[in-house]
Amino acid sequence: MVNESEIARLARDIRKASRIVALSGAGMSVESGIASFRGPGGLWEKYDPEEYGHINTLRYEPAKAWIMLSDMQREILKAKPNKGHYALAELERMGKLRAIITQNVDGLHHVAGNRDVIEFHGHLQSVSCMDCGHRVPSADIDLDKLPPRCSKCSGPVKPDAVFFGEAIPSDALMRSHREASTCDLMLVIGTSAMVYPAASMPDIAHDAGARVVEINPSETPLTGRISAYIVKGPAGDVLERVVQQLKSLPA
Ligand code: APR
Repeated sequence: MVNESEIARLARDIRKASRIVALSGAGMSVESGIASFRGPGGLWEKYDPEEYGHINTLRYEPAKAWIMLSDMQREILKAKPNKGHYALAELERMGKLRAIITQNVDGLHHVAGNRDVIEFHGHLQSVSCMDCGHRVPSADIDLDKLPPRCSKCSGPVKPDAVFFGEAIPSDALMRSHREASTCDLMLVIGTSAMVYPAASMPDIAHDAGARVVEINPSETPLTGRISAYIVKGPAGDVLERVVQQLKSLPA
């Protein structure tokens, strides 16, 4: 059960703040039917990330990598934004959210309407040929003929997501660092805060003097160390109620 006073507290913090940034993780999309990575039923229970999610597996054992990738792709193609995604889009429209740094590769923040989204781990919306660079939408991939080959040169194709063993795109890293170090409030939503360098963003915000608030049914390594408080509950429900509460506050 979500604590009503924590909802009101977060709405007041959002109203007071002037440079708000969100860091979102897989928990943001659980209510859209996309499995998270860790915890019960998580993707990493089914597939060892270092085995299936590593760039070397995609390079040298593509058929194996595409077993997991096609699973993820099928879930993402069916998924729609949930009320939490729409609440963040509303916050941006209200001028109360500068940017979302997302670890997710499902593209749902864009679909919900947020314009300033930093895709820290890239995305699964398109794939690129590892030989000639030809890029096509993932929806064009025939998931029954794996591993997919480039339609231009028959080379191996790679989703435009960041795999284990790959560097974070420098533009995403720099923009995220800039947003985290200049915000006065960071909302950390649906992430276990265990994977770096994404998980260093709340520390950067905290060290720059920002208030860090978590939205998550469970505590994380940030709780009680970096975050001022945690609103325990599902992101969709919590964010929708925070925006409703924010709108009811006197201007
Ligand atoms: N609302 C909010 N949070 C939720 C919900 C929900 N409905 N359901 C689960 N959570 C929380 C879990 O408690 C957990 O803290 O979401 C978090 C999901 O954690 P992970 O599965 O570890 O996902 P994430 O933190 O995004 O992982 C980071 O690890 O494997 C890599 O590249 C992958 O981007 C991913 C990164």
